[in-house]
Amino acid sequence: MPSLAETLRELEEEARTALASVADLEALDSWRTTYLGRRGRLREVTRGLASLAPEERRQVGALANRVLEELEAAFGERRRQLEQEALARKLAEAALDVSLPGRPLLRGRLHPVTQTLRDVLAAFAALGFQVVEGPEVEWDYYNFEALLIPKDHPARDLWATLWIDYRRDGEMPMLLRTHTSPNQVRYMEKHRPPIRIVSPGRCYRYEATDPTHEWMLTQVEVLAVDEGISMADLKGTLAEVARRLFGTERRVRFRCEYYPFVEPGMDVLIDCFQCRGEGCRTCGQSGWIEILGSGMVHPRILANVGYDPERYTGFAAGLGIERIAMLRYGIDDIRLFYQNDLRFLEQF
Ligand code: DAH
Repeated sequence: MPSLAETLRELEEEARTALASVADLEALDSWRTTYLGRRGRLREVTRGLASLAPEERRQVGALANRVLEELEAAFGERRRQLEQEALARKLAEAALDVSLPGRPLLRGRLHPVTQTLRDVLAAFAALGFQVVEGPEVEWDYYNFEALLIPKDHPARDLWATLWIDYRRDGEMPMLLRTHTSPNQVRYMEKHRPPIRIVSPGRCYRYEATDPTHEWMLTQVEVLAVDEGISMADLKGTLAEVARRLFGTERRVRFRCEYYPFVEPGMDVLIDCFQCRGEGCRTCGQSGWIEILGSGMVHPRILANVGYDPERYTGFAAGLGIERIAMLRYGIDDIRLFYQNDLRFLEQF
């Protein structure tokens, strides 16, 4: 028969194993009743103490006390664990997931005309040109007279004009500017050479709109005036800008054209980037695409703003930004730019 001490140790062992597999507080309660209760297993064993000799009884009694204490401690530890687990479960069940997937932020972007305008200005800025602006409502004088387009001159017919119905005694007629060229004169009146400026802005014309005509358009005016400026400067500058905008391999061609405020005047053309000069729809089968008007500033304009035309020369140019954007992006109708149709705008 095993001794009482051995039985105690076996009981402790068994109780610990059972405690480890207790899974909830209820089971823990019945574990306690089973092993440590008034009628539990430990009491059952210690009842045998009475029959032992006094010396042995003291020893086994001390062992029994130690087993009781340690099992009580293990019980307390296990209860804390189970309580914590129960609390965590309760919190997890009660938790409410309030996160909705966020609404996607609409991402804005720049209008294709703005993008192209910025690229054009950046190309000129890289060559040392400054940006200056002028008014959209303009005097007849700056829009026409000062650019050598006097009243009744047939060149006025080149510009379909929106006049402002406003007149005060002695004041000249007013209009929505038809081009940015008036800024050439405005700037020269207030500054002395050397001048290198670009002047962007909206222009307005009395147009019946069609795929290549809008009543509002964006231009960039170019003006360089200094001693010794020649056509070589004009060609070099405009060819460089054309290559920055349309690719370094572009070839550039200059063709005589009449503009009242330049002498000589010319259009700048690039070889068609679609067909590389073969002839296609984009270039109207010619292999060349016109991108801007330009010329050497008329000496009379220089003289009118008080520059000595024997000493100073200059070149000027005007670019239509919508036209350049149409060429770059393959847009076939200028009217798309200002209809605010997101299906169009989101493509850029
Ligand atoms: N102002 C002209 C237009 O609107 C474009 C132009 C042509 C501007 C020749 C210039 C130039 O500065 O030299 O059609």
